[in-house]
Amino acid sequence: MLCFARVQRSFLVAPRYLSKHTFNGTHACSVSQSIHSYNCSMPELMSLAQKEMVLINNFITEDEEQCLMKDIEPKWKRLKYQFDHWDDAIQGYRETEVSNWSETSSNILNRLRNAAFAEKDSQRALVHVLDLAEDGYIKPHVDSVKFCGRVIAGLSLLTPSVMRLINEKDKSKQITVLLNRRSLYIMRDSIRFEYTHEILKNEESLFRGTNIPKGRRMSVICRSEPISDDCNDSGNLFKVIKLNPD
Ligand code: OGA
Ligand code: MN
Repeated sequence: MLCFARVQRSFLVAPRYLSKHTFNGTHACSVSQSIHSYNCSMPELMSLAQKEMVLINNFITEDEEQCLMKDIEPKWKRLKYQFDHWDDAIQGYRETEVSNWSETSSNILNRLRNAAFAEKDSQRALVHVLDLAEDGYIKPHVDSVKFCGRVIAGLSLLTPSVMRLINEKDKSKQITVLLNRRSLYIMRDSIRFEYTHEILKNEESLFRGTNIPKGRRMSVICRSEPISDDCNDSGNLFKVIKLNPD
């Protein structure tokens, strides 16, 4: 079993492993950033959000979504959704890593990589696929620096959902992002390291006061390799985040 994001009791733990960017990078991207998909607790967060939590709506077409799903669905075999460990960072999910993609899917993933990673980033070759059941959700966590570098890029398939980012040191700094179906997010640098991220459960799935019902959600995630200094750190596998300090 993979374990990018795990929780222990009142603690949240960061995942396993878990970037090149486009907009000011060398790889031009023909689609533009979706500025209406953010809701920030303070106006000054908006520019950070747009820089380090890039959201691109309609990154893929419906046909491309179908093509990715066709490659993904046979991978599950008898793998069941996991709900039983209440202290896991993710509830109601199954996950896998995929290396063999059809030609069309490989082209989509190359487009994603070109949009997300900079030349300096070494990229994990395997693609993480996370299948979240309709009543599944992801609790706040930070992906472990042991397994993931400065960029996490995720395509959201099948349903819209709401992601919330909260600054670990100053919880009043919050960014809510509407992850539309077929959108791509590129989370990097300080937002990736200093903010927890979570996918809200259906009862709490609100964006600017509007309920966003989440169905079954498939995310296709590419990550950069850990930064070498962090790799040499012999500390914990997971970064522990205390949610409710005594
Ligand atoms: C994770 C995670 C987000 C997503 O697997 O660590 O945060 O978009 N996934 O599924
Ligand atoms: Mn994560």
